[in-house]
Amino acid sequence: MASSEPGDVLILGSGLIGRSWAMLFASGGFKVKLYDIEQQQVTNALETIRKEMKILEQSGSLRGSLSSEEQLSLISGCSNIQAAVEGAGHIQECVPENLELKKKIFAQLDQIVDDKVVLSSSTSCLLPSKLFAGLAHVKQCLVVHPVNPPYYVPLVELVPHPETAPATMDRTYALMQKIGQSPVRIMKEIEGFALNRLQYAIIGEAWRLVEEGIVSPSDLDLVMSDGLGMRYAFIGPLETMHLNAEGMLNYCDRYREGMKRVLKTFGPIPDFSRATTEKVNQAMCVNVPDDPEHLGARRQWRDECLLRLAKLKRQMQSQ
Ligand code: NAI
Repeated sequence: MASSEPGDVLILGSGLIGRSWAMLFASGGFKVKLYDIEQQQVTNALETIRKEMKILEQSGSLRGSLSSEEQLSLISGCSNIQAAVEGAGHIQECVPENLELKKKIFAQLDQIVDDKVVLSSSTSCLLPSKLFAGLAHVKQCLVVHPVNPPYYVPLVELVPHPETAPATMDRTYALMQKIGQSPVRIMKEIEGFALNRLQYAIIGEAWRLVEEGIVSPSDLDLVMSDGLGMRYAFIGPLETMHLNAEGMLNYCDRYREGMKRVLKTFGPIPDFSRATTEKVNQAMCVNVPDDPEHLGARRQWRDECLLRLAKLKRQMQSQ
């Protein structure tokens, strides 16, 4: 079974998420090999990583204790998957979200890996029981789901297959901590894991409120960005309850009936109809027109905000 030494990291798929993983593992001092079915993608990824690391270093935001050149020297491209698997202690799959493609890749890996390496998928919503069904090395498999953009948002959900060995979870948990991510253990697989279940619960209610004309789309977003989101960046919904009264027991005594009354009024799953989608889109486009230039600029601004927030969180934790 998996040893406690993480070893080198192999990343399969050098798109958006593969590139971010490469930077994160290098920031933790790990040797990283990047593989892609398209060799040009690897070349592009290496160039993009170099540029991003230099910018991060200049702004004092490069993660880890190594310089950008030291981190860059740890990352290399590779074109032979079989050779790349040798010496790898952790393999992070980052190919497009397609069950058949991912299953094919894990079946291929199953034939060539030893019984030590951890096989991990970045999938956002495919269940481990589907991805890893029938693999000889299933004990070494799990989902490690990052949040976009992973360099700035540290959460990763670790989701086991029913047969994943506890040692695989433990070792991956420690590896994620080592590279500065915040792992959480999902004990048992479930559709949407935890993050997307919470996200979709919020989207569902947001949509109903807008569709029923109770609040405008831009005000709805403000409820989160200037309201709930302010504290959720630091404390979760459960701790919020704990602090908003004299502890959790007191909160539930005070607000149990009110919460239940409101929760009973939640409507059915929205069908995200064309009419409401257009209404919401129109409102979104007032501030951010949906062309690549405006969307790109806004994403850059969002990443800058997240980067500063991450710094603030680190400062607050060390106080
Ligand atoms: P992407 O489309 O940017 O990159 C996928 C890469 O995989 C491409 O470079 C492609 O050439 C390569 N590829 C395709 N077939 C391959 C094969 N057989 N072998 C090796 N490489 C192959 O996709 P992205 O956004 O990086 O997503 C990757 C995974 O991460 C998906 O499962 C996605 O659900 C998950 N994810 C994505 C997030 C996001 O916001 N983009 C957030 C969290 C997880």
